[in-house]
Amino acid sequence: MNDENKSIHEFDFELICEYFSSIKRQGPGSPEVTIKALSFIDNLTNESQIADIGCGTGGQTMVIANNTSGHITGIDLFPTFIDLFNINSQKLSLQDRVNGIVCSMDNLPFQNEELDLIWSEGAIYNIGFKRGINEWHKFLKVGGFIAVSEASWFTEERPAKIDEFWKNAYPEIDTISNKVTQIQQAGYIPIATFVLPENCWIEHFYAPQVSAQNKFLQKYAGNKIAEELVENQRNEAELYYKYKKYYGYVFYIGKKFISND
Ligand SMILES: C[S@@+](CC[C@H](N)C(=O)[O-])C[C@H]1O[C@@H](n2cnc3c(N)ncnc32)[C@H](O)[C@@H]1O
Repeated sequence: MNDENKSIHEFDFELICEYFSSIKRQGPGSPEVTIKALSFIDNLTNESQIADIGCGTGGQTMVIANNTSGHITGIDLFPTFIDLFNINSQKLSLQDRVNGIVCSMDNLPFQNEELDLIWSEGAIYNIGFKRGINEWHKFLKVGGFIAVSEASWFTEERPAKIDEFWKNAYPEIDTISNKVTQIQQAGYIPIATFVLPENCWIEHFYAPQVSAQNKFLQKYAGNKIAEELVENQRNEAELYYKYKKYYGYVFYIGKKFISND
């Protein structure tokens, strides 16, 4: 199929996937932060079943794999990401216990109480934090853990410009204390909460995009969708540098303590 036959929608998604495939992480995070979040999880063995939901190309998944011994299923909606995920897993000789599948996070292929750990870095917002932590609860064994990172406000009040930006981008952004209450209400013991350091955004997410953007704009010179995508990313980075004392990503770790129903 040539580009003229594709719908704009399809072309948009392909471009977005190509852009984000060129960088190691598709959201803010770092190997150190993944390891820190893992340090709160104490029930894992080589029999453990782990799901990494919205795994992208697997930046954080391979870190989890190198620091645990169980089986990990990476889940992502986009085949381009999952293809790269499985290539990365193979390159690290992890293919026997780290496997990526294309699937939506609102229709997960797991049995009730099958999983020991649900992981999701910077991805639960796709169905919303509250819905995600509630819907995924049934897939965890009693005593299993959930570890998700999520955009959160650091203060009760903030400048109107950044408030508006986030209310359009993700209205569910909220304060850390409100997110912890939601974890508790969804049937987990809140085990730990910590703010991702700024280097997760700057060194690991925005800085690698600078050269990726230049290459991307050269390849798609004159393509409005590509230009808009880069413009949006640059705008988002600028807002972060300006307003980073008001918001960031926060890791929330909870432990399931009651059975389903
Ligand atoms: C901000 S990226 C984070 C990727 C990765 N966890 C990381 O931190 O580098 C969000 C991911 O969610 C995936 N995603 C979006 N909607 C999804 C859905 N409905 N089901 C599963 N994955 C989805 C995207 O393809 C993308 O890989």
